Amino acid sequence: QEDHEGESKAKHPKTDSKAPLTLSVTPSLYDAPFPFYRRPAEMGQFSLDAKRGFHGDARQLRYYAPPPSEGPSPGFDLRDGYRDRYVRRGGGIREGLEHLLKWIAQNRKQLQTEDKGRPLNTDFVTWRGHLTKVLTTPYEAQEGWLFAVTLFRGTLYISEFETEAARKQREQRSELLKELMYMGYKFEQYMCADTPDGIPDPTGVVNTNEAFCTVIRSRLGNHSLLFSGEVDCTDPRSPWPDPPSCYVELKTSKVMHSPAQRRSFYRHKLIKWWAQSFLPGVSRIVAGYRGPDGSVVGLESFETMKIFQLIREDPGCWKPAVCMNFCAAFLAFLKTVVTEDNPKLVHLFAWDPGHPVSFTVHQDSQYCFLPDWYVESLSA
Ligand code: A3P
Ligand code: MG
Ligand code: MG
Repeated sequence: QEDHEGESKAKHPKTDSKAPLTLSVTPSLYDAPFPFYRRPAEMGQFSLDAKRGFHGDARQLRYYAPPPSEGPSPGFDLRDGYRDRYVRRGGGIREGLEHLLKWIAQNRKQLQTEDKGRPLNTDFVTWRGHLTKVLTTPYEAQEGWLFAVTLFRGTLYISEFETEAARKQREQRSELLKELMYMGYKFEQYMCADTPDGIPDPTGVVNTNEAFCTVIRSRLGNHSLLFSGEVDCTDPRSPWPDPPSCYVELKTSKVMHSPAQRRSFYRHKLIKWWAQSFLPGVSRIVAGYRGPDGSVVGLESFETMKIFQLIREDPGCWKPAVCMNFCAAFLAFLKTVVTEDNPKLVHLFAWDPGHPVSFTVHQDSQYCFLPDWYVESLSA
């Protein structure tokens, strides 16, 4: 992993300890019964405004407002506004866990334990998106990842660093790909209103700084989790009225014309959609299918809990249990490897497709990610 170490001096992992040095990602090793996953519970919410400013409330929450199901296809033009009504979040700015840590610092009392040495009652703190990447790892053939992990006062914090390959891809992203990304956000604007009974306003600006995030508590096997994830909207008419079940995840995808295309979509794309929504207990995913001209030619709704029924007919498909068992094994691996409680110590876990997960150790390096204000606020 020399290319990831950059300027920092890598400590060498102790070779005399019993802790394993790598973790295999081979799916067959994790093909066991579905592990225990406690029903995700919402602990809180926060919002990021048009300038990426933090607010400890739900001001950015939007309301699901689909077009009437009767009648012709919705007639959404996903390219509209790309040139003149688009404010794009700067991609090179690393936020790390900052916003989530701010929420934790402001809501410590809710998470407190009797144990003075362990101020937060959770084994792990991270973003939902990081866990999504862990879940899909056994089936991922394209993109590797880098996760920095620090043990601080009894809780393991996981924060992603961009890989060299991902940075290059981001910097060389084609115009076509940039427009496709915009189209995903534009679809949200067509499907969401600002009030429970409102109607969408597609004449507005798409600003990708804006976000509404839910903070979720759950447990996978013997690992307690606190994570946050961005939520697209809530359905005021949901059959499951309480968060997080009432939340709806919106997605776009290329329209499919053949059973082979649909099978490929199930194998490669639905795994990511499922993992992203299953983790926080979001019960519905609504897909907008893009035609070649950027219009939406159809909508399809998926119930997250029923996705496994769609894929189990296909023996070459992914298995939800493999994803979850791998995640549990990964978290157990972190617990055995990262045992020194120290906010300046980072274990960097790296994975590339075709390889097992490995790690390097970095003291006082550019990988330190817990901000001083956070370390101080939890030490007080
Ligand atoms: P689609 O996924 O509908 O294409 P999310 O679906 O998670 O709410 O994200 C909203 C949009 O952000 C996506 O819409 C996509 O356009 C863009 N996006 C999210 N994650 C991305 C990634 N890893 N790479 C590129 N674009 C991404
Ligand atoms: Mg989103
Ligand atoms: Mg979405």
